[in-house]
Amino acid sequence: MKILIVTAFCFFLAWPPPAYADSSLVQEKGCPDCHRFSSADPAEKHKAPDLFYAGDKFKKQWLAEFLQHPYTLRKAGYTVDPGFPLGEPALKAPHVSVSKEEAEKIADYLAELKLPGLETGKVDSNPLSKSLRARLKIDFERTYGCTACHEALNLTGNVRGGVSGPSLVNAGNRLQTDWIFNWLKSPKQFLERGRMPIFDLDDDTAAAITQYILTIQQKNEN
Ligand code: HEC
Ligand code: HEC
Repeated sequence: MKILIVTAFCFFLAWPPPAYADSSLVQEKGCPDCHRFSSADPAEKHKAPDLFYAGDKFKKQWLAEFLQHPYTLRKAGYTVDPGFPLGEPALKAPHVSVSKEEAEKIADYLAELKLPGLETGKVDSNPLSKSLRARLKIDFERTYGCTACHEALNLTGNVRGGVSGPSLVNAGNRLQTDWIFNWLKSPKQFLERGRMPIFDLDDDTAAAITQYILTIQQKNEN
C-alpha cells in the first residue's frame, strides 16, 4: 500500500510532463513582438532577425547561452529593420535575457523550427589542412571581401572587419554547417530582400568557404 502511495505521489510530481518544444514561453516573454516565428507573420514584426528557421541556423548550445547572456552581433543594427534607415534601432535597451532553465526550453522549441528542402551533406566534415585554410582565408578576406561587412578574427585572434553584416567572430560555435552552405548558395530562400551581395558561388567554393567560416571560433588558435 505504502509503495503504491509513493508511486502515485511520484507520478503526481512528474505531471504534467515538461512542456518542451511549445511556444508558450516564447509568447510569454514577448519574443514575437520583434521576431518572426513563421514566414506568415506580418512583416512589420521584422525588426529583428527571423527565427522561423532557427532550427536549421543555430547550434542549440549557442542559443541556450545567448538567451541567458545576449550580446550584440550587429553593431550597426539589423539592416532589414524598417526603422534602421530612420535611425530607430529595434533594441533601445539590452536584449531580453532569461534563466538557464527557460533558455534551454526556448532553445528546444527553436531547434524544431525548420524549413523544408534545404540542401544537406554538401560540406566535407574533415578538418581543413593548414595550407587550404590559409588559402581560404585569403579568399574570404580579399577575393570576396567578406570582411568588408563581417567581423572575423585575424591571425592574432583579434576581432577585425566591417559591421554592416552580422559578426562572424564565433560563427563556428554559432551556426550550423548545412545552413551556412544554403545561405551562401541562395540567401533568398531565407531573406527575400537582404543586403548581402549574391556571390553566385559554385557548390565546391560555397562548401569550402563554409568550412572556413566554421573555423572562426573564439578561443581557438586561429
Ligand atoms: C524588442 C525586440 C526584441 C525582443 C522582445 C526579443 N528580441 Fe531577440 N533580437 C532582437 C534584435 C534586434 C536582435 C539582433 C541583435 C544583434 O544582432 O545584435 C535579436 C537577436 C536574437 C537572436 C540572434 C538571432 C540572429 O540571427 O543572430 C536570437 C536567437 C533571439 N534574438 C531570440 C529571442 C528570443 C527567444 C526572445 C524572447 C525571449 C527575443 N529574442 C526577444 C530583438 C528582440
Ligand atoms: C556588402 C556587405 C556584405 C558582404 C561583402 C558580405 N556580406 Fe555576408 N551578410 C551581409 C549582411 C547585411 C547580412 C545579413 C543578412 C542580410 O541583410 O542580407 C549577411 C549575412 C551573412 C551570413 C549569415 C550570418 C547570420 O548570422 O545571419 C553569413 C554566413 C555571411 N553573410 C557570410 C558572408 C561571406 C562568406 C561573404 C563573402 C563571400 C559575405 N558574407 C560578404 C553583408 C555582407
